Amino acid sequence: MSFAPSDPGAPAIAVRDLCFRWPSGAEVLRDCSLAVPRGQFWMLLGTNGSGKSTLLRTLAGLLQPQSGTIELHPPVGFVFQNPDHQLVMPTVGADVAFGLVSEKLSPPEVQQRVTYALAAVNLLDFIRRPIYALSGGQKQRVAIAGAIARHCDVLLLDEPTALLDPDSQIDLVKQLQRLVKERGLTALWVTHRLEELNYCDGAFLLEQGRVVDQGNPDRLRQRLIQSF
Ligand SMILES: Nc1ncnc2c1ncn2[C@@H]1O[C@H](COP(=O)(O)OP(=O)(O)O)[C@@H](O)[C@H]1O
Ligand SMILES: [Mg+2]
Repeated sequence: MSFAPSDPGAPAIAVRDLCFRWPSGAEVLRDCSLAVPRGQFWMLLGTNGSGKSTLLRTLAGLLQPQSGTIELHPPVGFVFQNPDHQLVMPTVGADVAFGLVSEKLSPPEVQQRVTYALAAVNLLDFIRRPIYALSGGQKQRVAIAGAIARHCDVLLLDEPTALLDPDSQIDLVKQLQRLVKERGLTALWVTHRLEELNYCDGAFLLEQGRVVDQGNPDRLRQRLIQSF
């Protein structure tokens, strides 16, 4: 049901006719289809309960859809709304290294990956810093570094700015925009903050588990502003 794309020109994330319902029978995703071009930064918008988190979790393999197909290259990086649910080690460097334990790397290789990933999010100077001493935005950057260290080409971010103040919010979205461009990553970012649409290549609008509009972020923003 879920496999890596064979064609190098294929979208980095391709979802076709995905259906997901909870054991209660509640249908959340209904023939949901979308494609994110490789090397682009797309956002996913939709009202509360429209199925955004469920879609991201099925893409990450955390939930199994009943039908449909998902194509993306593992490993996939996931960044949650609350970084305190994601960062498990006492220091920044240890946390990024922790994500590499299953990869059986030598200590110098681990060091090299951690250094590279923290430099990517401008946190190399924080490598020995305790996690508790970081701001919310810095914690989200550590979570992103964890994905970069694992060589994830695809990042899924579920309302990563929801708990941040406005300055950290814009800082984080700009950092991701830069990372996608500089490192050829592909990102799908859930938000309900329309000002973040300034920084992405395109956006999807989800309604009742289905993509009902997609494309130019400015046009989607206008559509949403007019619907309020
Ligand atoms: N663990 C769960 N068990 C049953 N229903 C759930 C669970 N998590 C979410 N839901 C329901 O699935 C629907 C979609 O939720 P979600 O994907 O979290 O929406 P969004 O992220 O767009 O707000 C909602 O109706 C929500 O109540
Ligand atoms: Mg959600």
